[in-house]
Amino acid sequence: MDFSIKACDWSKGGEGPFLTGKSDCIVVGVFEAQTLSGAAFAIDAATGGLISRIVKAGDMDGKAGSTLFLPEVSGIGASRVLLVGLGKQDAFGQKAYGDAAKAAWRAILGTKIAQVTFALAQLPIKDRSADWAVRTAILALRELTYRFTQMKSKPEPAPRALRRVVFSVDAGDEKAVKLAAKQGAAIANGMDLTRDLGNLPGNVCTPTYLANTAKKLARDWKLKVEVLGDRQIEALKMGAFLAVTKGSVEPPQFIVLQYQGGAAKAAPVVLVGKGITFDTGGISLKPGEGMDEMKYDMCGAGSVLGTIRAIAEMGLKLNVVGIIPTCENMPAGNATKPGDIVTSMAGLTIEVLNTDAEGRLILCDALTYAARFKPAAVVDIATLTGACIIALGHHNSGLFSKDDALAGELLDASREAGDPAWRLPLDDEYQDQLKSNFADLANIGGRPAGSVTAACFLSRFTDAYPWAHLDIAGTAWKSGAAKGATGRPVPLLTQFLIDRAGQ
Ligand code: BES
Ligand code: MN
Ligand code: ZN
Repeated sequence: MDFSIKACDWSKGGEGPFLTGKSDCIVVGVFEAQTLSGAAFAIDAATGGLISRIVKAGDMDGKAGSTLFLPEVSGIGASRVLLVGLGKQDAFGQKAYGDAAKAAWRAILGTKIAQVTFALAQLPIKDRSADWAVRTAILALRELTYRFTQMKSKPEPAPRALRRVVFSVDAGDEKAVKLAAKQGAAIANGMDLTRDLGNLPGNVCTPTYLANTAKKLARDWKLKVEVLGDRQIEALKMGAFLAVTKGSVEPPQFIVLQYQGGAAKAAPVVLVGKGITFDTGGISLKPGEGMDEMKYDMCGAGSVLGTIRAIAEMGLKLNVVGIIPTCENMPAGNATKPGDIVTSMAGLTIEVLNTDAEGRLILCDALTYAARFKPAAVVDIATLTGACIIALGHHNSGLFSKDDALAGELLDASREAGDPAWRLPLDDEYQDQLKSNFADLANIGGRPAGSVTAACFLSRFTDAYPWAHLDIAGTAWKSGAAKGATGRPVPLLTQFLIDRAGQ
């Protein structure tokens, strides 16, 4: 898909090329009060009042999300106009714009239209700029066109014809929008990688597969990569990580991927991603129903790889390290048992009361390892707890941090990116739930506030740097008919890094 930007101030006589230029369709908006803004107004004038007549006749009432194709339009270069209802003008904000863009793409993708001029990003959107609007439109389109066909023996060909989108924007916005379009495409490419990795089954997307993916990224984007195998993991005394991989025949991998976009000595941001390629629960075996979805338990790892791909494509001026502990969680004769006590890399002993609370065990050693990079900040990303789905559902990722500034940055980025997160508490009071009679701490804290105690567990290994934790159990994939990975939180993480790089 090719995206380009063209300046066009519709009301100032600069619209000539847009009105006469050939395209298959031009997308313009109509508000509920039947006001035609910008592009719609200009097209109305050029077509002898066609749009006003249609609106007056009641064929397009401007209701949010409604669409109407006007075929065989004469008087302009485009052969069709797509009218998109925008809802109430004074309420036209982030959500209404996003819904309108999605409705427009859905309508277009159902046709043979190959070339589109998209004029909705030019509308005044409450608290949002034109560059935000273009990036959001690109991400909405790429979300709708994503297909996962790798595992089909005869993949159905993608039905879509759309190849080229031209965004019309005001001249003053052109420069910012061009950058945003590049960033939007890079984020979408990163999300596609994250979704592919999540959707691949556990027998394909193994720890070794993730390591090979990181190596390929390193080749394609000139990154530094290091993959440690079980001997090296043992030498580092990552006893918590080893306790999880013990029952599996797939070898564990510890992936370190480095993107150097900033000054050589500038402290990096470290992203740590949970990479359980399949979570059976181990000896604390999960129930069978829906267990297939535990192939998604590596979505934290996938989002780290997708984010690094996105920022590498953007050429962000920042240093970023991705750390991925990855293995399977399997039951076996030699698997870790409830009650076993292991020693983490940090030296803390852990009583494994439930082998299904494995994410925190692999992450705690990765968080200890992260300190060697003297990070400016560390963010871990994990499908960590079912309790987070109960608390927040599928819209917000759970955000935990004791660092208000870092939490604020991540929340701002999440809102800007339309990839929301909600902050949950991390008070020391909850730490009591992790007390063990036999070891320094237990790996579970009981049912109350399960996501909080999981985050509290991780916090014990993060004294060396500012740290935040994202629980993406509810947001990384969808269940039901639309079952599949979402690519979240790549938009949030990438926006956070863009903001950090000041770009
Ligand atoms: N990977 C799961 C968390 C999960 C569960 C994500 C369901 C998405 C949907 C994690 O390893 C896990 O099993 N957590 C346990 C923790 C419990 C044993 C304290 C959970 O949430 O039940
Ligand atoms: Mn588990
Ligand atoms: Zn898990």
